[in-house]
Amino acid sequence: MFKTIEWTDDGVRMIDQTRLPAQEVYRTCRAYGDVAEAIRSMVIRGAPAIGVAAAMGVALGVRDSKAASVAELRADFETIAAALSATRPTAVNLFWAVKRMREVFESSLAGDGTGTEKIGRARQRLIEEAQRVLAEDIAVNEAMGRHGAALLEDSTTVLTHCNAGALATGGYGTALGVIRAAVEAGKKIDVFADETRPFLQGARLTAWELAKDHIPVTLITDSMAGHFMRQGKIRAAIVGADRIASNGDVANKIGTYTVAVLARENGIPFYVAAPLSTIDLTLSSGAQIPIEERPASEVTSLAGQAIAPEGVAARHPAFDVTPHRYVTAIITERGIARDPYTESLKALIDAGRAG
Ligand code: MRU
Repeated sequence: MFKTIEWTDDGVRMIDQTRLPAQEVYRTCRAYGDVAEAIRSMVIRGAPAIGVAAAMGVALGVRDSKAASVAELRADFETIAAALSATRPTAVNLFWAVKRMREVFESSLAGDGTGTEKIGRARQRLIEEAQRVLAEDIAVNEAMGRHGAALLEDSTTVLTHCNAGALATGGYGTALGVIRAAVEAGKKIDVFADETRPFLQGARLTAWELAKDHIPVTLITDSMAGHFMRQGKIRAAIVGADRIASNGDVANKIGTYTVAVLARENGIPFYVAAPLSTIDLTLSSGAQIPIEERPASEVTSLAGQAIAPEGVAARHPAFDVTPHRYVTAIITERGIARDPYTESLKALIDAGRAG
């Protein structure tokens, strides 16, 4: 199995997702700026994977800082954190990871010792923490799989949108993790993968990842989902999330809202699988979630080839918001949340604080 991302002494190594499925090549980011660029250009993408990359980017930047004093290191930390935070606005895991690294950074500096000792301690602890963020993400996905697998029937066909798999996370996946866990539990699951215009995460990444794992996958264009639901072929839909507001509104890859509405119209469940780090309790509804607008050229061209007349106006909001009333359940590592989400999501988060 491939590794989406890993820490090495040379830097942060990641599979280049812009080159899949044609080539399985890896890129090593040797400076935090390279990590920021890899996130922005979608060499690495998917909310949890972006979080892991940001954590490793912080560790790399602090490790290589030339700061000679604690004050200088603090200034460098802020520069690094700002650069990473400015890459992609929607996936809250990015900001969650930077916050977590900041807390470790500050606690490392707060202990006893000389300035040099504090700097050394901060460097070491941040590297350890970044690796912990990765390991925890994989464990969280496996736990999500255990909770979610029971929701999927045996001998069924499930639609997924975008890529919420091992490639979008530290490993195993969120939505695809639930499917993997159901398959591991002996269920026969056929996956229908939306190609996911315009960046084609479904065609390029989900189809590649599932085929590699020998999970049956059928690729469809986004516009075919309603047809197959109406025919009774697709029995459930499951997707990941980039940010979930406290009321259960879900921001995910553009086109997810359409899938949810079609699922409701056709009487099939619409599940969201996401770690608790994707839930943003500071937002009361999805209307407050920042939606990334990517270059229109990603819509007007495909693999470098123009597919629209030159100069035509085009838009590319990379995410949409699905109102919580369309969401049958949200699967997390700590259990399953259902409506009313304002209560159920908070209860799951509070259960972790208490434990
Ligand atoms: O633009 P991307 O490819 O980063 O968008 C990814 C998604 O929308 C995923 O569905 C989401 O991050 C969940 S991944 C486990």
